Amino acid sequence: VGHIDDVQELKKKKTSQIPERFIRDTTERPTLDKPISYPCNINIPVIDFSKLVEGNRDDFCKEIMKLRTCCEEWGFFQVMNHGIDLELLERIEKVAMEFFMMPLEEKQKYPMIPGTVQGYGQAFVFSEDQKLDWCNMFALGLEPHYLRNPKLWPTKPSDFSETVDIYSREIRKLCKNLLKYIAITLSLNDDVFEEMFGVAVQAVRMNYYPACPRPDLVLGLSPHSDGSALTVLQQGKGSSVGLQILKHNTWIPVQPIPNALVVNIGDTIEVLTNGRYKSVEHRAVTHKEKDRLSIVTFYAPSYEIELGPIQELVDDNNPCKYRRYNHGEYSKHYVTNKLQGKKTLEFAKIKN
Ligand code: SIN
Ligand code: FE2
Repeated sequence: VGHIDDVQELKKKKTSQIPERFIRDTTERPTLDKPISYPCNINIPVIDFSKLVEGNRDDFCKEIMKLRTCCEEWGFFQVMNHGIDLELLERIEKVAMEFFMMPLEEKQKYPMIPGTVQGYGQAFVFSEDQKLDWCNMFALGLEPHYLRNPKLWPTKPSDFSETVDIYSREIRKLCKNLLKYIAITLSLNDDVFEEMFGVAVQAVRMNYYPACPRPDLVLGLSPHSDGSALTVLQQGKGSSVGLQILKHNTWIPVQPIPNALVVNIGDTIEVLTNGRYKSVEHRAVTHKEKDRLSIVTFYAPSYEIELGPIQELVDDNNPCKYRRYNHGEYSKHYVTNKLQGKKTLEFAKIKN
């Protein structure tokens, strides 16, 4: 992706002309969704994390039941009172914004490395005729440390690296705890995921969606499910609404709640739970006047781990739906294909 396909540069030019490569086929355009058998003002559920951590028995049980419903029926929820310092959330947003606001030449010192989703640019682009997303990304591997490519860690803004480091530790704790509670919703040992994952893989991706003169023609981010176990998403303060999830064949917008984080189930949890908890297709749309920032953390098992449905969740009524596979291979498969709904999960499906 060169200069001409950088959407922030396109925005600076102030033309109303959208380059062909961004214009979606009519079937993919955001406004062509069939309205609307399902109320679109419905909101994804909210979990009060403090009730899980320090609630009395009653509150704890209620919140666990709610979490089970979130996972079974939504695959997406927001987490409030997550315990992460709100000032840290502000700081990560600030350094992300400062990064994206730098001149293109500065950002291009950290070019997206094809087939890895690390660096600045557009990921998941593999052919000339593939449509491009109206989005600039900056992504970094975080854990285990061998995933860190020091050449990709920006020196500007000066507090970027330190802030990402502190942020990632906090989000990591949140993911570990969420997985504990999710295990409880499944009546499994609360350390079942932790034990299985080894030293979990963690990566961050910052997405910057400039305002687009024709939001009806483009997508901010193509529909996809995440390859992770869990994803934690922070929506920038003052950003436009952009994230949408597919439910009952309708794209439902996720209304940002101040200081809450959005969490979603990734493909890995779908496999491990034998499809009881499903990863959900989502996409981002753009806005005519407002830019949007999101900061997305992916949390997944170590690459050498072999995965398959957890035995306790397979029985005569729930026959095994996914084969066993190596998570590293799955990840490779994920990052070397374009985003296309839940298609990458076919990799693991047992066909009958
Ligand atoms: C994502 O799915 O990775 C990001 C979507 C968003 O920006 O809200
Ligand atoms: Fe995603």
